[in-house]
Amino acid sequence: MNWEEDIKKTKIEFEEKLKKIKTKEELDNVALEFLKRKGKIAQLKNYFNLLKDEEKKIFGIKFNELKNYIEKEIERLNESFKETLDSKKFYNLILSWPGKKQYIGSVHILNRAKKEIIKIFNEIGFSAIDSPEIVNEYENFDSLRIPKYHPARDLWSTLWTTKKNILLRTHTSAFQVPYLLKNLPPIRAIFIGKVYRYEATDRRHEIQFNQIEGLYIDKENKVTISQLKWVFEYFFSRFFERKANVRLRPSYFPFVEPGFEVDLKCICKRGCNICSNTGFIEIAGAGRVHPYVLKQAKLDPRFYNGFAFGCGLERILMIKYNIPDIRYFLSGDLRFIKSI
Ligand code: PHE
Repeated sequence: MNWEEDIKKTKIEFEEKLKKIKTKEELDNVALEFLKRKGKIAQLKNYFNLLKDEEKKIFGIKFNELKNYIEKEIERLNESFKETLDSKKFYNLILSWPGKKQYIGSVHILNRAKKEIIKIFNEIGFSAIDSPEIVNEYENFDSLRIPKYHPARDLWSTLWTTKKNILLRTHTSAFQVPYLLKNLPPIRAIFIGKVYRYEATDRRHEIQFNQIEGLYIDKENKVTISQLKWVFEYFFSRFFERKANVRLRPSYFPFVEPGFEVDLKCICKRGCNICSNTGFIEIAGAGRVHPYVLKQAKLDPRFYNGFAFGCGLERILMIKYNIPDIRYFLSGDLRFIKSI
């Protein structure tokens, strides 16, 4: 019965075991072995009952020293395990988190659509031509058989500049005669760009929007209205990514004869909001280029003919993507821009 020996042995045994500890679990086991009720330390306590008073005092001091030492060492190791566990957790978190999506911007839907439409028309031999947005009165109106004081001018509410006779074009048709004056048929061209109207805005009207103008002029009266219909069906089938059926309905534009309203057959079976229960959606204006316009372009209508059409870009995008309000396009609202 040698308590001093026992205390020493216990300490050595503890230190030996401590050295081998690699995991938190092993540490917990060692802690239990030494500190639990009836564990190694508790057993040493039995000496209290066996020793005499003087010896008890010294034993007490040594015993407490050992107990505190073991408790502290276990606590220290425990802390270090916690630290590595925590840092591991942090590390895992960073690696396993999905990256935060950064919105770095994208091409606006209008510009994307313009590119796509140009590509479609290129496939069938139409070239995209740049056209000016600021034009004169002759280009926008007179050349197109819309004389001053003629009620037809009311069809296009105009934004005039402070310069006399100069305006923001109300339609892309304003470039028909200027282009024809500089280029000889056969001509297959599209003009895509902004047009301006002095109008109250609502969900179907904006003061600024985009049009796609098509122009096909050739000699020997080659151009036919069935070709016009085919061009529409081809374009809309590609654009809407489905078989598109098109209907031509008689209509009036001063610069075409005959003139048509182009209707796209709606996808609904029995009528819906988009087609106002008619089964067809008004989608463009078109017609055979009026002889008067050809004359303005110094082309003899006896030898040349052709068709022209004008289609609202926002309008067909609203149909394609189910956009309820034209004002979204220029609102700058990121929620809209990101959604298509
Ligand atoms: N320019 C006409 C408009 O803005 C559309 C159109 C173009 C009609 C070409 C016929 C031919 O309404």
